[in-house]
Amino acid sequence: MSYAVQSKEGIELNRLYQEDLSVHDWYRFVLSFPPHLVRKYLNKFNISDNQTVLDPFCGTGTTLVECKKLGIPSIGIEANPIVQLAAAAKTDWSINEKVLIDNSLKTAAYAQEKLKSLGDRIKVLEPEKNNLLIKNSISAAPLHKTLVLIEELQEHRCDEVFNHQTIALAKQIVYSYSNLHFGPEVGVSRNKKIDVPVIENWINGVYSIAKDIEEYKKLTHVEARVHLADSRNIVSCISDNSIDAVITSPPYPNEKDYTRTTRLESVLLGFINNKHDLRQCKENLLRSNTRNVYITDNDETWIKNNLKVIELSKAIENKRIELGKTSGFEKYYHRVVELYFGGIAKHLAQLRIKLRPGAKLAYVVGDQASYFRVLIKTGEIIADIASDLGYNIESIDLFRTRFSSSTGDYINENVVVMNWQG
Ligand SMILES: C[S@@+](CC[C@H](N)C(=O)[O-])C[C@H]1O[C@@H](n2cnc3c(N)ncnc32)[C@H](O)[C@@H]1O
Repeated sequence: MSYAVQSKEGIELNRLYQEDLSVHDWYRFVLSFPPHLVRKYLNKFNISDNQTVLDPFCGTGTTLVECKKLGIPSIGIEANPIVQLAAAAKTDWSINEKVLIDNSLKTAAYAQEKLKSLGDRIKVLEPEKNNLLIKNSISAAPLHKTLVLIEELQEHRCDEVFNHQTIALAKQIVYSYSNLHFGPEVGVSRNKKIDVPVIENWINGVYSIAKDIEEYKKLTHVEARVHLADSRNIVSCISDNSIDAVITSPPYPNEKDYTRTTRLESVLLGFINNKHDLRQCKENLLRSNTRNVYITDNDETWIKNNLKVIELSKAIENKRIELGKTSGFEKYYHRVVELYFGGIAKHLAQLRIKLRPGAKLAYVVGDQASYFRVLIKTGEIIADIASDLGYNIESIDLFRTRFSSSTGDYINENVVVMNWQG
């Protein structure tokens, strides 16, 4: 694969353009968009190292990592705390990798000692935290070892490397210690992992982060900032007239609950400690599923004149009545659609003042049919909303087609490409 992009120092980065997942792989969503998509739109928009790219729904940071590799300054916004930390750590290549390894080996040794001294006394989660987890997410022995490791990490905390150690642990919790599987919704496997070499696996993860840092820190020193914030309220976290491009993938209206996907590591690592924390996290997210809709929500006011959304919402509600569906969740389906597109409209409206005239935007979104199989043409509707807000729509590019198990149909993921002229 060959691309004609140079880093700030003029180093040819083609070597990194293999479908290289190193930094990306420190901790990532199963369905993150791929790095090559970001590179495609950075190239298409002719973005250079004196410009700034924003990802307002940055997730685990694919856009930011790609920008950083190319020497392009970037800003991310993410509302889920563990995910924000992951993006921040993945774009912080300033730490000393030797300190990372030394402190981690020391912590691992303390944890081994502690496990020995505890003998048969098994650590468990407090009931309040346990109640937040999907049942059987993790078996007793790996949980015990993980809790000991977390305690020792905190006890021997080294601020410089703590975030990197934490995301190394978050990744192991999800992909090696837990019984979870993703497909793309999170579920619990029938075959439970009774025991796992928790400390050894974590140390291996730390080593691979240290190796990446050693390599990547030579390349570039541009800044990537990641705010823990709600992209529907970005007044204070981004300067006006400062953004040259937006490359992002917001959630889709599809019943995927991101707080559930990240629940186990969020609870074990102390980002979500009780129902109140969970609710606060959900309230800051775009309303893309019925599990985060609240009585006080009012984002629909932002699309009250958009006929496409109003008709779609009516079609879903009429279908529910026709099918005689009466569960609480089903009654909320049409409401999610209004709140979802209302939230996107609110975000796009606020974003305008942050953009430089001529700014280019790429929003990756999937069509959906999760609500009684009524087709939601997400990309088309977002283009419509953006156009009403004064954006110029350049194209809706097909990114990929996916098979929907709920409908048995193929549905599209698109990239809505637009610009803002001020
Ligand atoms: C499709 S994922 C982004 C994946 C990302 N491209 C990556 O590579 O990891 C959407 C992200 O938006 C976040 N999100 C949802 N609502 C948000 C909001 N109002 N403000 C900021 N982030 C939000 C979710 O927590 C999730 O991490």
